[in-house]
Amino acid sequence: MKPAVLSMLMKRRSIRKFSGKTLSKAQVRTLLEAAMCAPSANNKQPWRFIVVTDPELIREVCLAHPHAKFGVDAGAVFVVFGGREGNNHLFSDLGAATQNLLLCAANIGLGATWCGMNEERQKLVNPLVGLPDRYWCYAVIPVGVPAEKKPPRTQYDETKVFYDRFKERPGPGARP
Ligand SMILES: Cc1cc2nc3c(=O)[nH]c(=O)nc-3n(C[C@H](O)[C@H](O)[C@H](O)COP(=O)(O)O)c2cc1C
Repeated sequence: MKPAVLSMLMKRRSIRKFSGKTLSKAQVRTLLEAAMCAPSANNKQPWRFIVVTDPELIREVCLAHPHAKFGVDAGAVFVVFGGREGNNHLFSDLGAATQNLLLCAANIGLGATWCGMNEERQKLVNPLVGLPDRYWCYAVIPVGVPAEKKPPRTQYDETKVFYDRFKERPGPGARP
């Protein structure tokens, strides 16, 4: 039998079609609480979040990002960001928070997709949400009531696993 935790993890798929329904305050709070459960280096908890709920702004943010246009019907967009200076682990910490939020969404009946950021995308998105340059905008996450279904699936691949020591061998595991 599959452990319950694996079923919860496999439920998370990138959902890119939404019903247009808004999220409740309780849902937003649950997602933020899940994100803030994440581990962080020295327990700095450097994550910050802008929760975009204004439909017009949701639209603007999603259309500004080259690969988030599907998010215009989301109930909210979570912008994950943190201070740029003096934290070598910022990306890892923000990644952990982002993943927690996605896993939580999938397990409370919502859909979401992690939309990655870079310098270029930040120039388009940050001004819309009033984010000053001293912050690194890490991810934009449209979240909503799903209007599509995707099956849970495993991505387990034995060729990507080594026990005790790395060994050269054919297969995708040899070239990450
Ligand atoms: C760092 C990162 C950046 C991503 N950026 C985007 C994006 O800009 N737009 C998008 O639609 N999906 C984006 N994705 C989602 C991936 O396309 C998706 O996770 C992958 O295809 C696997 O599908 P699954 O999430 O359903 O398992 C991103 C995922 C990660 C981890």
